[in-house]
Amino acid sequence: MNQQCNLSPTRQLTESEQDLVWKKPSSHKVSQEEQRVCQEIKRNWHRGEMKIANILLEGDAGTGKTQLAKALSANFGLPYTKVTCFADMDKSDIIGAILPVISTERMNQMDLSDKSALQALYENDSFESAHEILMNVLGLSEEMAARKMKQLLKLAMEQAEGDNVEYRFYPSEIVRAYQKGYLLEIQEPNVIRDAAVLMALNSALELDSSINLPTEIIRRHPDFIAVITANRSYAGARPLNEALRDRVQHTEKMDLPSKAVMMERAKAKTGYGEEQVLDAFAETIIVLDQTARANAIKGVAGMRSYFYWVDAYASGATATESLYHKVIYKITTDPDEISLLEHALHKHQLLDRLTEIESSVKKNEFLTT
Ligand SMILES: Nc1ncnc2c1ncn2[C@@H]1O[C@H](COP(=O)(O)OP(=O)(O)OP(=O)(O)O)[C@@H](O)[C@H]1O
Ligand SMILES: [Mg+2]
Repeated sequence: MNQQCNLSPTRQLTESEQDLVWKKPSSHKVSQEEQRVCQEIKRNWHRGEMKIANILLEGDAGTGKTQLAKALSANFGLPYTKVTCFADMDKSDIIGAILPVISTERMNQMDLSDKSALQALYENDSFESAHEILMNVLGLSEEMAARKMKQLLKLAMEQAEGDNVEYRFYPSEIVRAYQKGYLLEIQEPNVIRDAAVLMALNSALELDSSINLPTEIIRRHPDFIAVITANRSYAGARPLNEALRDRVQHTEKMDLPSKAVMMERAKAKTGYGEEQVLDAFAETIIVLDQTARANAIKGVAGMRSYFYWVDAYASGATATESLYHKVIYKITTDPDEISLLEHALHKHQLLDRLTEIESSVKKNEFLTT
């Protein structure tokens, strides 16, 4: 199946937008989920109210949610951007913020880092999000950039008091993607605490909607695709808001992939190809994943652990020792829980298989020397 498909063939991307379109690395393997989501989006793209442009990918860590969102960017030739949600997000993180432009004299009295941050914001005349500008200039994470922006806002408001100043609007990443027609990954919106913030996000996900900004009213670009990625809720975690779920027109349940897919991805990623080893390691991960779940052990045995374990083994570590450092201790360091996991591996003869792998490699080494 040809994955490449431009949804709006006449659309011209700018150079910087083209840079945002994800390029699939050679290690990328097209999954059934990817094929299905692409087909669904294409099938309904010109069907007005039945359009499919809000997608939910829900499942465990490392199952490939982000990579699937990026693959859609590559397949549809849309710029990829993301927003990582955090608990105390407020409305300005969803919509954007208005910042007073304060005079140079007042700026000169400020702390150097605040001054340079404000200067960077004022000098940027593209429709770039404030968070992105601060992340680039100050090297901050998204959450820290959001905090910094709020602090700068307060500071600039105080400084501007009494002056007759101009105000500028800085859109959020969400608004930017919404207006420009990008593919936006919204990571973990279930952590957001404030109901009003969730409502703002919900209304931005209406298909035929518009957002009222202080400066203008903007409409949803026909190419805007929102991909919500969330870990499945476990006991104690906040579930994804129902209204938000309801805005979604297609959902994929992302689980640990099948053994064959796990092996295929690990091969592509690490360049290591010994089937017997990849198979035993994958089985081990699967058994540990099931056991951890069944016993309410919180950590995950997932694809990332699998890749790093295979890679450590391929670089000369022993199978059993690296099992602990790359997989088991990542799940838990609690001795009782470790015993439970070991017991499960023993029951499935996996510890024996790993020891066998070790000794057969030793034998081969012995025979070749
Ligand atoms: N289709 C694929 N082909 C090859 N490798 C993949 C594929 N999908 C995911 N991977 C690899 O698996 C790892 C985890 O993927 P990804 O980051 O997309 O997971 P995730 O579900 O978004 O995890 P999290 O919940 O932690 O955000 C990455 O190293 C990624 O490159
Ligand atoms: Mg992710």
